[in-house]
Formats: sequence, C-alpha cells, structure tokens
Amino acid sequence: LASIEFDLTKVAEGQQVVVKWRGKPLFIRNRTAKEIAAAIKDDHADMRDPETDEQRHKPGKAQWLILVGTCTHLGCVPTFGGGEYGGWFCPCHGSVYDTSGRIRKGPAPKNLVVPDYAFLSDTKVKVG
Ligand code: FES
Repeated sequence: LASIEFDLTKVAEGQQVVVKWRGKPLFIRNRTAKEIAAAIKDDHADMRDPETDEQRHKPGKAQWLILVGTCTHLGCVPTFGGGEYGGWFCPCHGSVYDTSGRIRKGPAPKNLVVPDYAFLSDTKVKVG
C-alpha cells in the first residue's frame, strides 16, 4: 500500500492540513501548547479507549498529531474546533474527541486512529 511523504512546514501552529491517504482523509495537526496541555491534563480521566497523550505522538514531537480523519463510529469526517473538549466533533451522530483525538463522548467506540508514520527529518514525515 502507498505511503506518502509530507512537508510539515506547510502547517502553521494551531492549524491542521487534511491530505488524502489510502482513500481516507489524514489530519496533520500542529498543536498549540494549550491543546497539548489540555490533552495531558486529561491523561487519567475516565475514558472509553484509555491512552495517554504521549502514546499518541512521537517522542519529543508533541505538537504533531497525525490521525486518520474518520470517525470510529461509522466513518464520517470529524471537524476540528467543535465539542466541549476542544478537539474534533463528528457531525453525523455527535461523537466528541479531545485535542489528542481520544473519544470522550458520543457513540464512537475508539480514539481516532494514529497511522504508522516516521519522521524523516524535523520537517518531514512519511506516513504508511
Ligand atoms: Fe461519527 Fe457516527 S460517524 S458519530
């Protein structure tokens, strides 16, 4: 299956770029310090699919969150900036994800999926 390389300099802090990968949207988000802090603060909250924020990004690269952009309920594409956890909101049936992409509310069973990826340099990643 195809892998893609992506130049992270295209994504400003606080922004997200959506690219297509293997027929699905991929969210490449450059998180703000506030988004990261909010995610870490909730690391031990009661969650349906418990993961710490650290488990969802590469070591030392907390600002970069790379996620498969399909809701784990029935596959709609969540939008950023909705829902009370400051992350993503799925308009189809109201699933709410936090700034780490973890499911916090609504029918989705799992966190947004972190695909296999690697940093090729400080500014370039290879996904898949
Ligand atoms: Fe997202 Fe149903 S597809 S909540």
